[in-house]
This record gives sequence, C-alpha cells and structure tokens, in this order.
Amino acid sequence: MATVHIRRCDGPGAEPRWVSYEVPLEDRMTVLGVLDYIYENVDTSLAYYQSCRMGRCAGCFVQVNGKGVLSCETTAFDGMRVGPLENYELVRDLVVDLNKPLKKRASNDRG
Ligand code: FES
Repeated sequence: MATVHIRRCDGPGAEPRWVSYEVPLEDRMTVLGVLDYIYENVDTSLAYYQSCRMGRCAGCFVQVNGKGVLSCETTAFDGMRVGPLENYELVRDLVVDLNKPLKKRASNDRG
C-alpha cells in the first residue's frame, strides 16, 4: 500500500484541504490509475478529468509535487501530492477550466 495526498476543494472560493488515501500501488500504475482507484473504491466524490488516456487530449493535466504533468502518462509513487493546475480557474478538486487562465497578479505586472 502507498499513501497519496490529493488536494480537495469544493469549488472557487472554498477552502482547499489535503486528503490522504491508501492505495494498492501496482508496478507502473499511473497517477490517473490512482485517481481511478480512489474514485472506484474509496471516494466517488473525487472530481478529476480524463478522456483519451493516452497523452493526446491534454485534459488530464494535474500537478504532482508542484510540477505540471499528464496524469495518464505519469507513473505514481508513494507519498506523491496531487493538486490541480494553479494557473487556471478551479472548478472542483483536480478539475480546472482550461479555457479560463488566471490573470497574473498585479504585483507581477511590469506595466
Ligand atoms: S487523458 Fe488525454 S492526455 Fe491524459
């Protein structure tokens, strides 16, 4: 068994929280496989996106330990922390609206 940490959030403006799950990590299991396992066996309220499952649609982007990755092409590992992409408007949990990139903060603007 492995422990993975998923950033959960009920939607824009809601307080995010980290939730830990025990999953039976199999050899070469992907991050998406872990999310599927959690959804199918532990918690059906987990929101995440997948479509092609082969690295083509780019819809399954998440952050793993702070790095943006395709969950269907990234090997899962014990202790990983999975969160949504930061630069897009959050819908819920790991789902963001890829059509709504967030604007840079005013402090980052250089005029
Ligand atoms: S599900 Fe399409 S790229 Fe991962």
